[in-house]
Amino acid sequence: MPSAGTVIIGAGQGGYQVAASLREFGYSERIVIVGDEPVLPYQRPPLSKAYLLGEMTAERLLLRPQSYYEKHQIELITGDRAVAIDRAAARVTLVSGAALDYDRLVLATGARNRKLPVEGAGLTGVLYLRTLAESDAIKERFAEAQEIVVVGAGFIGLEIAAVASKLGKRVTVVEPLARVMSRAVSPIVSDFYAQAHAQWGVQLLLNTRIERIRGEGGRVVGVSLSEGRELPADLVLVGIGIEPETTFAQNAGLAIANGIVVDAQLKTADAKISAIGDCAAFPEPGGGRMIRLESVQNAADQGRCVAKRILGEAADYGAVPWFWSDQRDLKLQMVGLTAGCDRMVVRGNPDARAFSVFCFRGDRLAGIESINHAGDHMFGRRLLAAGETLTPDEAGDPGFDLKARLTRLMPARARTAG
Ligand code: APR
Repeated sequence: MPSAGTVIIGAGQGGYQVAASLREFGYSERIVIVGDEPVLPYQRPPLSKAYLLGEMTAERLLLRPQSYYEKHQIELITGDRAVAIDRAAARVTLVSGAALDYDRLVLATGARNRKLPVEGAGLTGVLYLRTLAESDAIKERFAEAQEIVVVGAGFIGLEIAAVASKLGKRVTVVEPLARVMSRAVSPIVSDFYAQAHAQWGVQLLLNTRIERIRGEGGRVVGVSLSEGRELPADLVLVGIGIEPETTFAQNAGLAIANGIVVDAQLKTADAKISAIGDCAAFPEPGGGRMIRLESVQNAADQGRCVAKRILGEAADYGAVPWFWSDQRDLKLQMVGLTAGCDRMVVRGNPDARAFSVFCFRGDRLAGIESINHAGDHMFGRRLLAAGETLTPDEAGDPGFDLKARLTRLMPARARTAG
């Protein structure tokens, strides 16, 4: 009997990558991707950056044109949703009623927006941003809106604020915590970005909660804040984080703990089923605690890792995490996981808007946050991938040659190969 092949649930970056890598590495069985959005797989990061600003077309968002899937015999089912897994029969059922048998099943279901739990959150003019359709809806509103309140000073909130301020809107960002992007960056970088937004004319209200969204005739007209202040608003944009999409896996009896629980090879307790990307909780490489990462790099690298295993090359997932955020003229690039670091060393010049923060846990480099300093970022990716470190003194010494340090790391063969 021929193999039922691989079924991939989720047509985002991770789902696409599994299919593309399987074909690239020589898989000849059937591949089916199921995605609930009615479009070809596309990149999400520009939705809150160049695409929202109107500097990128929808076509350029696509990871591949339609012809790619035909040429590589990747069956793409869009605008449909997987609703149940029958693990005993190794079969997935879709909302349309279709059923797909699998030999291997990959869950790349991603995440959904966390909803703002206040009165008025359902009014017209309160919008979220994760999908192409949501970005289009915000773009449409930008034509009219003048007073924009952004809820949440994370990556999405600040990227939206950067675009909206560039478009000349009055923008206020409301954040309950004491600093911006606190989930992922050091206090030094948070403070730098708070100042940058102030320079762009964005009003940033930290330590402030939204109590209520006020409306008239079903449309948003303002927000009420924690200290009794009122703000006018004709558009409220919410970016308060995401929740992993796990319902479907949970209903199939798979373990869930801040994501679909997988082992170091990204397998669930059912050896036929893997989970990758934003929806997967996996053991931190070299660490052992369970983590879940929300990034393109993680989705793509985990997709490659699973594709290799399906083809018989099983290995633990061990990629170095990296992320980025574009806000006006500032490119933030992060490598490693810097939360909870106890020592930070600045290299470069924050006043010139080009610097990095090297973050240490004890004496060990945990990660680097770079602003307009791509060289430091690339250095960090290579250094951490090699399992190496440098000392805080070396990081802080402007005369210390990072490039020379990397050259010493590279085997002679790689150096001569150019
Ligand atoms: N009201 C206001 N703000 C809130 C609330 C709330 N009820 N709950 C959380 N926040 C704030 C958090 O304190 C944080 O500053 O919202 C922010 C959320 O930031 P992130 O966790 O970075 O999430 P978000 O910006 O929504 O990005 C979601 O999309 O682009 C990707 O990498 C990004 O994976 C991330 C995802």
